[in-house]
Amino acid sequence: MFPLSSLLLASLLGLGICQYDYDYPPEPPYAVMSVPNCVPECYCPLPTAMYCDDRKLKYVPIIPMGIKYLYLQNNLIEEIKAGVFDNVTDLRWLVIDNNNITSDKIQAGTIDKLTSLEKTLFSYNKLTKPPGPLSKSMEELRLTGNQLTSFPSGTLAGMQNLTMLYLAKNQLTTESIAGAFKGLKSLLLLDISENKLKKLPAGVPSSLLMLYADNNDIEGVPAGYLAKLPELQYLRVSHNKLVDSGIPAGVFNISSLLELDLSFNKLKSIPEISDSLEHLYLQVNEIDKFDLTSICKFTSPMNYSKLKTLRLDGNLVTHRSMPDDTSNCLRMASEIIFE
Ligand SMILES: *[C@@H]1O[C@H](CO)[C@@H](O)[C@H](O)[C@H]1NC(C)=O
Ligand SMILES: *[C@@H]1O[C@H](CO)[C@@H](O)[C@H](O)[C@H]1NC(C)=O
Ligand SMILES: *[C@@H]1O[C@H](CO)[C@@H](O)[C@H](O)[C@H]1NC(C)=O
Ligand SMILES: *[C@@H]1O[C@H](CO)[C@@H](O)[C@H](O)[C@H]1NC(C)=O
Ligand SMILES: *[C@@H]1O[C@H](CO)[C@@H](O)[C@H](O)[C@H]1NC(C)=O
Repeated sequence: MFPLSSLLLASLLGLGICQYDYDYPPEPPYAVMSVPNCVPECYCPLPTAMYCDDRKLKYVPIIPMGIKYLYLQNNLIEEIKAGVFDNVTDLRWLVIDNNNITSDKIQAGTIDKLTSLEKTLFSYNKLTKPPGPLSKSMEELRLTGNQLTSFPSGTLAGMQNLTMLYLAKNQLTTESIAGAFKGLKSLLLLDISENKLKKLPAGVPSSLLMLYADNNDIEGVPAGYLAKLPELQYLRVSHNKLVDSGIPAGVFNISSLLELDLSFNKLKSIPEISDSLEHLYLQVNEIDKFDLTSICKFTSPMNYSKLKTLRLDGNLVTHRSMPDDTSNCLRMASEIIFE
């Protein structure tokens, strides 16, 4: 029991989908010497990789030609001055998370000149708008934990290969992201949690597998919203203001969905789900009845729900609210939690 519940807890805390959590690549242990033209404050075990992270740097150091992977995270950098990337206009990865950079201190002729950039990791700075214009070759863009209030609609234009976009912990509104995702073809993950959205983002690409919109002010899911996302497997809308009247009949009835997190909202009833859903999180709502038809539409000895996890703790139902025929329908559920 214990490992299973800790796993569950981990996934509830948002640590779940491990294939997309990552650590920065460690500095390779085998090379002790930097390549010759690497500046002393950094470490270049290879002619293409320069590690300058965690060094209290206040500026972007001199970068030798040939570097394609640049690690500048966890420093005290406030400014990106014109010319600093002139030796490396074909840089692939720029990792500059956790510094102190404001939008007005990114000079022209820096990031906008990096035309081969594939990963830009710029989380936990002080940006009020996205950096750039960014290269169309971008595959992963992380801007979590900045102060973004605007996200102009052309920011991501032409980024055919963009698969991961992290915009959590900013101050974006429904209006400020209108049109932002138009034309994206490869996006798999959009994290727009902890912003100021009143609605789920409009115009998100049909390629999406994961949509995270926790901790906003969302009251409902528009009819047909998920029908336009035929690949979606993970939808998280916890800690919002969802009410029953904002959930049209059948809105979650899409067969791709595996995990639906609607916890910490104001729902009074269990929404109707598809037969294929495996994890349903409804803890801390105002649910006062256990309506089996929402979960088991065609219960019979041969037909049963695929649900493995059902959380109903923090509601007004108990084990005794479960109808007698529940166990047949919910035979796959190893975790049904009421309190
Ligand atoms: C470019 O590389 C040369 C040679 O390593 C170096 O002298 C120069 O300072 C570098 N320029 C920048 C902006 O890093
Ligand atoms: C970031 O800059 C602010 C001033 O804008 C300063 O108060 C703060 O100490 C800086 N933080 C770091 C980690 O340098
Ligand atoms: C997208 O990736 C493919 C394959 O790596 C590449 O050929 C193409 O140029 C990329 N597109 C852009 C806009 O960079
Ligand atoms: C849910 O979707 C399935 C498969 O697409 C469909 O057969 C079924 O009629 C739908 N149910 C409702 C209530 O819309
Ligand atoms: C099982 O459910 C499907 C709809 O999902 C229904 O069409 C079918 O008749 C049910 N089969 C049995 C044996 O109840």
